[in-house]
Amino acid sequence: MCGIVGYIGEADSVPILLSGLKRLEYRGYDSAGIALLGNGEIIIQKNRGKISRLEKSVKMKGLSGSIGIAHTRWATHGKPSSLNAHPHTDENKKIALIHNGIIENYASLRSDLEKKGHRFETDTDTEILVQLIAHYMNGSLEKAVRRAINKVEGTYGIAVISSTDADKIVAARSGAPLAIGLGDGENFVASDISAFAEYTKEYLLLDEGDISVITRDGVKIISSEGEVMEKETQFIEWNLDKIEKNGHAHFMLKEIYEQGDSVKKTMSMYGLKDGKFDYQNGPIAEVLDELQSASRVYITACGTSWHAGLIGEYLLEQMAGIPIEVEYASEFRYRNPIIDSETVVIAISQSGETADTLAAIRMAKDSGANIISISNVLGSTIARESSVNLYTQAGPEIGVASTKAFTTQVVMFTLIALALGHRIEIISDEQLTKMIKELETIPHKIDTILGTEDTIREIADRFSNASNFLYAGRGYNFPIALEGALKLKEISYIHAEGYPAAEMKHGPIALIDKEMPVVFIAPRDNTYAKILSNIREVKARDGMVIALANEGDEMISNIADQVIYLPETIDCLYPLLAVIPLQLLAYHIAVARDCDVDQPRNLAKSVTVE
Ligand code: AGP
Repeated sequence: MCGIVGYIGEADSVPILLSGLKRLEYRGYDSAGIALLGNGEIIIQKNRGKISRLEKSVKMKGLSGSIGIAHTRWATHGKPSSLNAHPHTDENKKIALIHNGIIENYASLRSDLEKKGHRFETDTDTEILVQLIAHYMNGSLEKAVRRAINKVEGTYGIAVISSTDADKIVAARSGAPLAIGLGDGENFVASDISAFAEYTKEYLLLDEGDISVITRDGVKIISSEGEVMEKETQFIEWNLDKIEKNGHAHFMLKEIYEQGDSVKKTMSMYGLKDGKFDYQNGPIAEVLDELQSASRVYITACGTSWHAGLIGEYLLEQMAGIPIEVEYASEFRYRNPIIDSETVVIAISQSGETADTLAAIRMAKDSGANIISISNVLGSTIARESSVNLYTQAGPEIGVASTKAFTTQVVMFTLIALALGHRIEIISDEQLTKMIKELETIPHKIDTILGTEDTIREIADRFSNASNFLYAGRGYNFPIALEGALKLKEISYIHAEGYPAAEMKHGPIALIDKEMPVVFIAPRDNTYAKILSNIREVKARDGMVIALANEGDEMISNIADQVIYLPETIDCLYPLLAVIPLQLLAYHIAVARDCDVDQPRNLAKSVTVE
């Protein structure tokens, strides 16, 4: 995905646009650019690489202007380069456009335009769109945009300016989010509200197909049917420190440290606090109704969110006795799953914008399913297209590697499973009380584990040159093995795989040697004896073992090469604890390898393209 931001007002837009881009850099960072409207012409500056390079160029040239749009890119069509960077202009440089999304029918549109004499500079899909708008331009920029997007198949969140219809920014969205910041004599448009949060707390969200005409004095929104729409004004509830590093070296580390707080907030938001769990009122009760009347329940997600879904499956089957099928969204959307009006699909998505997950729920909805979503971004597309949405209280997650969103997703599933199990009397009052009591200790136990960061950093330094890692866990901790491996892969670029520990004998044990660390998640739960055998099998072959074990576990400390200790808890709650040291291990290995922790190569925070 990419980040787009626009400003129209009385101030110089350049510092506003650059600060907005920096807030959006997590969305993509292989190139960046800016377009300004000044003295009847469009001024463009684009650079390959990070926003800091664009900033240097803009300052060196002394660019300024009170109307501007800017873009930070995650390349889809066309390699990262200054030529392929946005904004793109038409061949006469009268219109400039920035785009988040993919124009799927760009080839046929390009061919039609070339036949009509238009010439192209780049091999991007975005340039087709701006040339198409220019082709239809006849005075009104918004009319030309409407005509052009009516020809488009694919997804777009765009902002457009023109020197022949100046003093406005036209924005439009379909499949990629757009928010409009409302100021006094100035207005903003951006992919997400963090881009203008330091200038205004007031905003509105565009819906699918909407076009917006943004001037200094106001915002007009026209629906896909051409009607002028009134939108509900919303207010940013969090303070800026939520999107600052607050003294941490990276957003990821800050967000790892926020997990005790975000887990506590999520439990409290959904009724678990002060020794009680009031699940009968509010959105969890709606979710229980849906699950109880369902004949089939799917969980669908991508990446880390999919790992949370696996834990959700184990929790719901164990505590509530309902069968669950967990599906990668990218597979689910293209299979022919059995779906009808008694099917419930639970979509998990931190960003609420992941293209595959969004497409999966749209496919399921078309087949009659009821959609429940667990997301972390207010007003995100997946949340708005679900019949019930549960917001995790993680707050903005900026680091590309998901951490606090994951633990709050797992908490959400724990609450749902616990509530459902108690409602249908699989879980007794006593068991409920015990779970509530233990859940309320989890935030503190997370903080206790964070207190062992120095030990984890030492282990990370020792193994930062490994080429491969294996992660192994059983039961609830098998998905944590997957998650630990993904964290390491995506920020340190070391190859890592997660496995059910028992699977080691079915192939992976052939990999064991002194060079490859094997991380075992081995708390004293119901699989402890078995996982101990697995550790011994690895040691018997001169393997290198890093074990997560309970404080005081002499057995493990006598056989493992390194031990990271976990506080004790109830078996089904270990995922909330075991994932913390694995996040820190991945983080410190990445730092030791001088990797770009918050903006790992080739990645983006939310994958809004297929
Ligand atoms: C996790 O660390 C990754 N950034 C990635 O796997 C992510 O979980 C996945 O892209 C899903 O994103 P979503 O939760 O926003 O849908």
